[in-house]
Amino acid sequence: MQIKLTPRLEKIANLVKSNHSVADIGTDHGYIAIYLIQNSISPYVIAGDINKKPLESARNNIKEMGLSQRIETRLGSGLSVIKPGEVETVIIAGMGGILIGQLLQEAPEIIATTKEFILQPMQAQEELRKYLVDNGFKIVKDVLVKEDHRIYEIICAEKGQQEVIQEIQYEIGFYIDENPRDLAIEFVEGRINIYRNIIADIKDIAGERINEKLGHCKQRLEALEEVLICLKK
Ligand SMILES: C[S@@+](CC[C@H](N)C(=O)[O-])C[C@H]1O[C@@H](n2cnc3c(N)ncnc32)[C@H](O)[C@@H]1O
Repeated sequence: MQIKLTPRLEKIANLVKSNHSVADIGTDHGYIAIYLIQNSISPYVIAGDINKKPLESARNNIKEMGLSQRIETRLGSGLSVIKPGEVETVIIAGMGGILIGQLLQEAPEIIATTKEFILQPMQAQEELRKYLVDNGFKIVKDVLVKEDHRIYEIICAEKGQQEVIQEIQYEIGFYIDENPRDLAIEFVEGRINIYRNIIADIKDIAGERINEKLGHCKQRLEALEEVLICLKK
């Protein structure tokens, strides 16, 4: 039976370079791992998870699909489940951006031998981009995908140096214009609404920290409005 992924998971899986062996960290159900093998994207996948229950569920799903020879499940935190040189691609999806940064930070020897990182933070996307830029990664793709009314951000990175032209790139990614136009516009408009609401909520409150926050929000709003104009041209 062929596995059917949700748009978010399918987009993540299809970003893996063909024929790369993969570690899917925080695999949970193991669906990405199964899809990668079934669609001949990867020859071999390590599916890791810190918790026994999700790993058990992944193991059952993998067994049911008859893929136990091609997907190995491993219990443990982050990249500690892999050895240097074992995989070419690391996927970490469905966790917070701060945690993803910490998991990368803890494993310099794995980073050194991995070619491609596909990261899908649920929150703290900006913090994760900052972490990557400050720690010897180059962001090569910033992909948006919509699922159930929510737009998810997928960050693809390699080792290298990232040029940052504008601060706003940490928030919306470095390649916003490479996404489908309507989706990029919806994403940026969503960010604009967030700042407009914050500004409306705090503009009449006095205080030094509020003023600082107000200034930051206004700057971001202005930058986002410029991006929006460019996207709509
Ligand atoms: C919300 S699920 C995401 C599952 C899947 N990757 C996805 O994107 O749908 C998060 C998974 O990460 C696992 N997890 C949390 N912290 C982890 C860590 N430090 N190392 C490995 N797995 C972790 C959890 O047990 C859980 O199965």
